[in-house]
Amino acid sequence: MKNTLMNILILNGPNMDLLGNRETDIYGDENLESIENRLQLVAQELNISINCKQSNHEGEIVDWIGQCKNNVDGIIINPAAYTHTSVAIRDAVSAVNIPTIEVHLSNVHAREEFRRHSFIVSVCVGQICGFGVDSYELALRGLVLLLSK
Ligand code: DQA
Repeated sequence: MKNTLMNILILNGPNMDLLGNRETDIYGDENLESIENRLQLVAQELNISINCKQSNHEGEIVDWIGQCKNNVDGIIINPAAYTHTSVAIRDAVSAVNIPTIEVHLSNVHAREEFRRHSFIVSVCVGQICGFGVDSYELALRGLVLLLSK
């Protein structure tokens, strides 16, 4: 029987380190540390392990995804602006073949035209967007449900 905890990697892309100050009318006033603390509480409740990382650099995010192969059960990613530009992150998610959910704070489909296209979502289980900070919690609960089946 598997006796290690389910391990979920939570990745945030560029400018997510500025949350709390950044376009608060769109993204709210909660910073990333606070969101991650909230997710740690959900993880405790679900008896799983999470590891949260943020980078402003595409290659670093690609590296982290590539290193997941044998030690991560699922990935939650807010690729931020790279959602709309990065074939490299898409290929990394596709390569590791680990269930992944794309999340966004805002409803990207109700904003500028260029935010409607995601390079990443087609290699993900799905996308959760528009629920503010709760997008992450919904994704975490959804991913754990999926991985438990
Ligand atoms: C975002 C939406 C992206 O379009 C944007 O570039 C971000 C944040 C969101 O969480 O709503 O940086 O991913």
